[in-house]
Amino acid sequence: MKKNQTYKIVTTKSLFEMKRNNDKISMLTAYDYSMAKIIDKAGIYVILVGDSASNVFAGHETTLPITLDQIIYHASSVVKASKRALVVVDLPFGSYQSDSSGALKSAIRIMKESGAHSVKLEGGDSQKQSIERILQAGIPVMGHLGLTPQSIYKFGTYSVRAKEEIEAEKLINDSLLLEELGCFGIVLEKIPAKLAGKIASKLNIPVIGIGAGKDVDGQVLVINDMLGMNKEFSPRFLRRYADLDSLIDKAVKKYSDDVKKGNFPNNNEQY
Ligand code: KIV
Repeated sequence: MKKNQTYKIVTTKSLFEMKRNNDKISMLTAYDYSMAKIIDKAGIYVILVGDSASNVFAGHETTLPITLDQIIYHASSVVKASKRALVVVDLPFGSYQSDSSGALKSAIRIMKESGAHSVKLEGGDSQKQSIERILQAGIPVMGHLGLTPQSIYKFGTYSVRAKEEIEAEKLINDSLLLEELGCFGIVLEKIPAKLAGKIASKLNIPVIGIGAGKDVDGQVLVINDMLGMNKEFSPRFLRRYADLDSLIDKAVKKYSDDVKKGNFPNNNEQY
């Protein structure tokens, strides 16, 4: 397979090929039709309908409150706009942790009702049975290890994970297990770059990092954060590619001013 080959449709198989060819994988979140359409057209390989919608869309402090119905609503809008990218949807907190049959039911609902291509869930060994059952049903699963925001109340902070040897060892073992179970990829969030690179080199499946350095197979960011829509959120790993906060602020103020002064609409903007 050629390096940097263009993919008409991105599948889980394409991602394996990209890893094999050392082509880096770009992934971004999206939660609505309009944004997903722009992202897909721009050539992003993977669109994640993340449970970060709970934060950036709904204004909750954590990812815990988002429901299965809500993520399906977001996912079905994103799927309609995604002509090329692979769409991955987060299984929300509470929709898969109780038992494997509940996990399977939730994954089936996401696939059936939104038309998505795969699901993502947080955890390694603790989620072994759920992952196995979902995979047996023919649903591709992406893992998520390191900082797992659905467990925020267990850890108490969003600080860098796996700095200690014991946690790092567990992370390596969980990553190997996810590959062995048949996951098509893993997100590693906020862990030391050296450790992330070591894991990526041990695995045949792609490792996508967020705050995990550059020696992994791809990167993911939350779209609202990378577009600069939330100035209060400034972790070290976040690179802002735009300043939409200022841009929107300026546009809205100008519109408001025009309306107040009777400058909008003008003669050409009416019937
Ligand atoms: O929900 C989300 O946006 C995520 C990314 C941070 C990977 O899981």
